[in-house]
Amino acid sequence: MPLLETSPDWDELYREGHTPWDKGSAAPPLLEWIAAHPDQIGGHILVPGSGPGHDVRALAVLPGVVKAVGLDLSPVATARASALPRAGVERHVTGDLFDLAPEHRGTYDWVWEHTCFCAIDPASRAAYVEAVHATLKPGGQLLGVFYLDPYDDEHPPGGGPPHGCNVAELEERFAGSGRFKIEESYVPAKSYPGREGLERLVRMVRQPAP
Ligand SMILES: C[S@@+](CC[C@H](N)C(=O)[O-])C[C@H]1O[C@@H](n2cnc3c(N)ncnc32)[C@H](O)[C@@H]1O
Repeated sequence: MPLLETSPDWDELYREGHTPWDKGSAAPPLLEWIAAHPDQIGGHILVPGSGPGHDVRALAVLPGVVKAVGLDLSPVATARASALPRAGVERHVTGDLFDLAPEHRGTYDWVWEHTCFCAIDPASRAAYVEAVHATLKPGGQLLGVFYLDPYDDEHPPGGGPPHGCNVAELEERFAGSGRFKIEESYVPAKSYPGREGLERLVRMVRQPAP
């Protein structure tokens, strides 16, 4: 049963072409992290809320990656991502992070988070932490870029996604839940234009369920 009663109709937004998050290329903080840590990401990777799949494709061509899976609630987004020129071991599937199919449970070595956490209803954040924890193998890692203060005239606080958060909340939700240990946390040097200084790159290691 999806938790997101108040979330937008993502399919509709994709159909209408109202996708301001789609910058046509992978997230600069992801590319920056990969360049600084060559060969570190490998195995099976999940990208929840992957949308057009640019990040999935960037991950799918890394040498140690066996499978890079984009999981998105919107069948329209999944179809569009699948229609783009294929890169490496990419795969796109439609599904709800809050209602995980068995194939996604305990399966992944890495999860890459980018604008899924800020897209969901903040009331679902504890469920997000639990769901991502459930997708990872023991010792798996969550690497994410979190949009800290995404507000502008079109997106006021409380006006729907993107929803902001702060570093203290990230620490409380992920480390405070006992499900993750934070290993790295910094402001990325590279961001899409307009997001400079507003993002936080965090790498965390999955802990045994408390
Ligand atoms: C703001 S968009 C970001 C897409 C992509 N990460 C990007 O930056 O291009 C948020 C995405 O999350 C997806 N989404 C929202 N709730 C979801 C859920 N419960 N499970 C999986 N995907 C979800 C939406 O369909 C949408 O494609």
